[in-house]
Amino acid sequence: MSQENTDALGVKARIAAIVEDVDSLPSLPSIVMKLIEVVNSPDSSAEDAAELIEKDPALTSKMIRLANSAFYGIPRSISSVTSAVVVLGFNTIRSLVLSASVAKMFDGKHTIDIDRFWKHSVVTAMASKIIVRHLMGVRMMDPESAFCAGVLHDIGMLIFSQYMPEDYAKVCEYAKANAVPLLEAEDKVMGVNHAYMGKILADKWSLPLDLENAIVYHHAPGKAEKSSHLAHIIHLADIISHNVGCSHWEGEACAPECETCRAELKVGDADYEKIMFNIQSSLDKSQDFLAILK
Ligand SMILES: [Fe+2]
Ligand SMILES: [Fe+2]
Repeated sequence: MSQENTDALGVKARIAAIVEDVDSLPSLPSIVMKLIEVVNSPDSSAEDAAELIEKDPALTSKMIRLANSAFYGIPRSISSVTSAVVVLGFNTIRSLVLSASVAKMFDGKHTIDIDRFWKHSVVTAMASKIIVRHLMGVRMMDPESAFCAGVLHDIGMLIFSQYMPEDYAKVCEYAKANAVPLLEAEDKVMGVNHAYMGKILADKWSLPLDLENAIVYHHAPGKAEKSSHLAHIIHLADIISHNVGCSHWEGEACAPECETCRAELKVGDADYEKIMFNIQSSLDKSQDFLAILK
């Protein structure tokens, strides 16, 4: 058997071990699981959410810092978690708590540049929100749900990067040497890609279905049977994030935009230009969110 075949078999076995032993992957802290339930329940109040957050001092301080940061530009000072929840809204709380928890869960040694990873994710999230705001007249959707899906869209990569460092180093080398997108290199070298690994995490963490679908289908939004609108938004936002220079490394190849994307979203050339202008002029703000994530 050739060395290449032996390697491929080894990779498959390592991936199968990770997928089968889902329990060994990090769990969302119970406080975060409960908070997602609270946020999804129509009967919950700001006090219910605040009561949970206050049990975690690190989350409490992140929440207050975010409410007072230029990222949201709220013109008065916020000193309690309840007012932070009221001012920011449930879905913003969900984005922050989920992304801060994921950043903490995957804070080990990584193959990819983790700072660039989070910058790409946060800029994708900001672009998603800008797209949703831009489309308000066409279709109603909560911009913060799109932000949350944007921050988490590539989480599958974190499993590869932290748990399979040597295999993922080969994937990155392949992508660089052949100037192909990471997704293509993952499929080629490992036979599995980060969208699939994202599903494993979304299932394990019981993330809401719209969020899971956006994670799974962000590279092939046309295949999403449910929440395909959100998947298209994240797909476009992901490409925009690459186009404004926020990729995983300098010169990373980006997959082409799916043909149906702009038609599905009803984004014409002039709309696209406005969206690009808005994201470019708010790029600096990503630092505020990134600083709070860590
Ligand atoms: Fe991706
Ligand atoms: Fe991405």
